[in-house]
Amino acid sequence: MPIPAKRLAPPRICLFGGNDMISIRVNSTQVAFDGDTSTPLLWVLRDHLQLYGTRFGCGIGQCGACTVHIDGQAQRSCMLPISALAGRSVTTIEGLAPGADSLHPVQQAWLELDVPQCGYCQAGQIMATVDLLQRKPRPTDQDIDREISNICRCGTYARIRKAIHRAADLAAAGGKNGD
Ligand code: FES
Ligand code: FES
Repeated sequence: MPIPAKRLAPPRICLFGGNDMISIRVNSTQVAFDGDTSTPLLWVLRDHLQLYGTRFGCGIGQCGACTVHIDGQAQRSCMLPISALAGRSVTTIEGLAPGADSLHPVQQAWLELDVPQCGYCQAGQIMATVDLLQRKPRPTDQDIDREISNICRCGTYARIRKAIHRAADLAAAGGKNGD
């Protein structure tokens, strides 16, 4: 796996922003970052907030392993500088479930259909799917193929497609389908 171009000396992450800090909301907690403002969001999440569910795959915005939600919309975090996110709200896979003892319908569908193989890409697949279902609660196979461009090196695409339809059913039956 390639080494990221920029691994930074540890900046301070604190719960309260100062004048020269970038303040963002991550999974409902306000945090402030005073490191290099070009640091990609992915590395702030992983290296400084210890949120390891969001994965590094390609680092060039292609594979989707690093997908998170910014203000409720799926975006790839590996090329997104933290400077672009001041005042915005980030949701990662760790913050997706509505409560400690409940799952998001997409997570529930993934479990029911045993989607992951190695699992590496799956957080990104789930975050992309949640975004798709927010926009298209009943996507067709063509919608899925067109709009979920995340790469799975294990080739779990058939199970992902089935799980998306199952998640749509679960959401329609009363589950929550959003951030
Ligand atoms: S790691 Fe971000 S798209 Fe591949
Ligand atoms: S489950 Fe292995 S890369 Fe997708």
